[in-house]
Amino acid sequence: MINSALMNVMTAAALKAGRGLKRDFGEVENLQVSVKGPGDFVTIADKKAERTIFEELSKARPGYGFIMEESGTVEGADKSHTWHIDPLDGTTNFLHGLPIFAVSIGLEREGQMVAGVVYNPATDDIFVAEKGQGSYLNNRRIRVSARRDVAEGLVATGIPPLGKASSHPRFKAELASVMTRAGGVRRLGAASLDLAYLAAGRFDAYWERGLYSWDMAAGLVLVREAGGYITDADGGQKMLTSGSVCAGNEYVQRQLLDLLKKA
Ligand code: IPD
Ligand code: CA
Ligand code: CA
Repeated sequence: MINSALMNVMTAAALKAGRGLKRDFGEVENLQVSVKGPGDFVTIADKKAERTIFEELSKARPGYGFIMEESGTVEGADKSHTWHIDPLDGTTNFLHGLPIFAVSIGLEREGQMVAGVVYNPATDDIFVAEKGQGSYLNNRRIRVSARRDVAEGLVATGIPPLGKASSHPRFKAELASVMTRAGGVRRLGAASLDLAYLAAGRFDAYWERGLYSWDMAAGLVLVREAGGYITDADGGQKMLTSGSVCAGNEYVQRQLLDLLKKA
């Protein structure tokens, strides 16, 4: 496990927000059968979780900046540190009562992602990583898979939703290309968990476009510290500005990149 002051701060914030989300998730399952549905309730739960994380991290590390999905950017006095926060990644799953969602907290220092926590309150799985210290799942060291051929691998992705229909043609072309070679394809619905599962060797590769920094900040550190490779969809390092990622173990990541190029 990682015994640093920073990790303690990050896990405490994620666990606290997660406890609230777990309670709210129970309520969502009840609201499923109501005519109005759980939409508004989930929006409130999401914002509440973000507030909890913001308060905890501001107290523990005064001056750090914030980039948050719900509340936007808060400039800090300390320009070298920024938190990237997604209080509820996998909102659609949460809304539908699917226990695949997570709190995601990443820390950027001097332009580099240096620490990440991804916590799924429904399963009580906590993935943590800090630069130079490795990646862990519930205090157990994790590594990316050792599979060498994408044909034996499981590739995760994200499907652009109805609201992003202009992205559908490219996604379909990429999926078609990946399907010609990959052993199997999965869509979990939570980018932070896609990256965390890759770090744990459950997925062999993962690609997605249209992401934001809060979706991938923590996962980037998890993947790298687990021995994985991560680039943008063009093989560069512009993940944060392009919103695209292509990640995997050293063998399958390269194969996936080639398949995306062919699409
Ligand atoms: C979404 C999830 C999903 C991904 C979307 C994200 P949200 O985040 O990570 O897996 O495909 O691109 O926006 O909205 O649930 O926080
Ligand atoms: Ca998200
Ligand atoms: Ca979210």
